[in-house]
Order: sequence, then structure tokens, then C-alpha cells
Amino acid sequence: PGKKGRIDFEQVSFSYDGEGGQPVLKQISFTCLPGETVGIIGSTGAGKSSLVGLIPRFYDVTEGTIRVDGMDVRDIEPKRLREKMAIVPQKTMLFTGTVLENIRWGKAEATHEEVEQAARMAQAHEFISATPDGYETRVGQGGVNFSGGQKQRISIARALVKKPEILILDDSTSAVDVATEGKIKDALRAYAAGLTCILIAQRITSVMDADKIIVLDNGEVVGIGTHDELMTSCQVYQEIFQS
Ligand code: CTP
Repeated sequence: PGKKGRIDFEQVSFSYDGEGGQPVLKQISFTCLPGETVGIIGSTGAGKSSLVGLIPRFYDVTEGTIRVDGMDVRDIEPKRLREKMAIVPQKTMLFTGTVLENIRWGKAEATHEEVEQAARMAQAHEFISATPDGYETRVGQGGVNFSGGQKQRISIARALVKKPEILILDDSTSAVDVATEGKIKDALRAYAAGLTCILIAQRITSVMDADKIIVLDNGEVVGIGTHDELMTSCQVYQEIFQS
């Protein structure tokens, strides 16, 4: 693993209404080492998106501390903090422009080669190349209407072109088939030493091979460990596995 991209959650609680409000996250502690992949799983409303939203400081913790590479994120300017990371949101947001422009939105000065490299890792290069206009294909409104899974892969390419230290995927492969998702994960693993990856997922197959998996239930960590460990120790995880 590389040296950058460590994340520490220390007794983090969070409420959208500030102190005294209804807590959405309660006393969350975990460490994600540089280069590790941490999966986050849990039912809808468990607090997964809220948890990852605290890392780039979309919101600040109500209690506790989050550190990135040892520094309290509240001591880092959001702009600088966000330069280190790329976040693929749950809802893909492509604009009506070309595929190239959409991917380059992650890094305006990216060369065509960098864009293509990111698209290859995201398993998007093939279907983009299969269109008559390739990377010049227009997305939406009079352009090609890509499928939900294809749009997600373009969003992942947009995140990767930034060459982040930390990559956060918020359920961003939900519409991608399991085999393609596996290829994306293989590409991420092979990618420049030390990409820290936080992966929110609904299905267990998406997080099974993560270095550690955090099981969230109603804002609390109810399990943390590898797939095998959780299968023997965490009832909530077993229930998700069986569903
Ligand atoms: N919530 C809120 N205000 C927001 C976002 C979320 O009050 N702006 C609340 C939700 O109503 C929910 C809790 O915060 O009770 C956790 O939401 P979220 O973090 O989105 O949960 P996820 O586990 O990410 O749910 P999903 O899988 O449905 O995305």
C-alpha cells in the first residue's frame, strides 16, 4: 500500500440538525489504511451516504473527529481536501455534452490518453468506442442514450481521470452487471499503488473481497471485518447475505 489516503473515524456522531438533533450516525470508529478497500453495507437509511459525505466535508461531524492522513479534516480547506479524492455519487450526473467532456469534467486538463485510460479502467472504453462518434458522442438530449450501467461507468471514469488518492463509490455500480463490476474492481486494484477506496453497496458480492467491511444499521456499526469474519460473527450481515 502507498502512504497517502489513510482515513480515521474516531467516535464520530452526526445529525443533520446539529447538536441535540436526531443522530443519523452514532459513535462510528474505524480506520481505512492507505491502499485499502473498505466496503460499507447496510439497509436503506442506515447512514451510508451520510457517513461518506463527511469525508469531503459536505457536512461536518457533530461529535468526534475524522482524520485524513492524520489531519483533522476540519483543519483542511474543503477545496484542498476534495482535490485528494473523487466521489461517484449514487445518482449519476452527466450533462449534455460529449462523452469526452463528461469524463474531463473530473480534470479539465486531462489529455485524451488519460481520458481513455480512465475509461478503460471503468470498463467504459469498449462501449464508447463502439459508437460511431466514439468519445465525441453526445450524451442525452439528441445524443446517444446510454444505459444506466453505462452512465455509471462514465461517472467512474470521470472520477478516475482525476487520479485521486481516495475514491468513494456510493452505490455506483448498482446498474452494472456483476462480471463487469468485477473487472472494474480488478482494474482499481491494479491502479497506481495505494488507491484508498470506500465502496458503498447494496449487494454483498460488491464488497465481499474488500479488506474490511463495515456493517451499518440504523446509524451504528454493528459489524466490522472481512466477509468470512462477518459471516460467522454478524447477524445483520448474514441477513443481508441471505436476502
Ligand atoms: N437524511 C437526512 N437529511 C439528508 C439526508 C439523509 O435527514 N439530507 C436522513 C435519512 O432520512 C436517513 C438518514 O439520514 O434517515 C440516513 O440516510 P443516508 O445516509 O442517505 O442512508 P443510506 O444508508 O445511504 O441509505 P440508501 O441506501 O437509501 O442510500
